Amino acid sequence: MGTQILAWPQPDSAPALDHNRVHVWAWNLDRPPSDSDWHILSEEETARARRFVFPQDRDRYVCAHAALRALLSQYTAIPAGQIAFACNPYGKPQVETDPASPPIHFNLTHSAGLAALAVSRDYKLGIDIEMIRPVDADVAAHHFSPSELRTLDHLPAPQWLDGFFRCWTSKEALLKGVGLGLNLPLDSFDVEVSPQLTPALVAVAPQTNIPLAWTLVELKPADHFAGTLAVHDPGKTFQRSSLQYFSLRP
Ligand SMILES: CC(C)(COP(=O)(O)OP(=O)(O)OC[C@H]1O[C@@H](n2cnc3c(N)ncnc32)[C@H](O)[C@@H]1OP(=O)(O)O)[C@@H](O)C(=O)NCCC(=O)NCCS
Repeated sequence: MGTQILAWPQPDSAPALDHNRVHVWAWNLDRPPSDSDWHILSEEETARARRFVFPQDRDRYVCAHAALRALLSQYTAIPAGQIAFACNPYGKPQVETDPASPPIHFNLTHSAGLAALAVSRDYKLGIDIEMIRPVDADVAAHHFSPSELRTLDHLPAPQWLDGFFRCWTSKEALLKGVGLGLNLPLDSFDVEVSPQLTPALVAVAPQTNIPLAWTLVELKPADHFAGTLAVHDPGKTFQRSSLQYFSLRP
């Protein structure tokens, strides 16, 4: 048994990715990895998998990275086992492509037994999913900006947890999209917190060098999971209707 992904189509292969579109994939990580999953990992990924203390974490990592490679292979026409990743100085991976080939943007996230991947030819992307679980108010106080905390604290009690994960996944998706990790201070930008409103980047501190041109989209890959996709769209060509959702067969 694993996490049930909600009604996202399961095509046999990745559909064509047209310009100005974003594909979001979700897949279950709670299955034993096959020999072929292990075989397509790089030496570095294999070594990382073997360092996990708990077998469940190791298996989830292998299932996440094997599917990541299989999917990116379909978008880049590079054999899955030959895809090379280069990371920026803060750890954000990108696919090393032939300079003559069009670039492909992607970002991966995983939480508990679920993974999600966003892919686009045009837009820098960040994605975050989180399994919804009880959270101590101190975690919000530690990570959120003063304005976000004020909004969160004014939500009716039954909405607090949804507001927390709306804020958390929006901030995390933006952090991952910008690609600076925690070098982008968490209190240097404000996101929409209310779970009733559309996710958005609402303000950026004056000295912070990130553009406001990010569109945020709420993701609901499965019951008990929250998620946000961040799309960098300075040319204002992205529309939420250009998003397509897919899932991999269990
Ligand atoms: C990687 C990072 C950016 C996110 O960590 P996370 O929440 O555990 O991770 P997710 O599952 O969403 O994403 C992990 C994937 O993002 C990618 N990634 C790694 N570094 C990244 C970076 N700097 N930027 C974007 N993506 C990154 C990798 O593909 C990674 O997959 P892998 O670990 O299997 O190789 C982490 O280094 C970090 O800085 N987290 C900030 C945590 C925090 O305090 N958030 C507060 C939100 S309010």
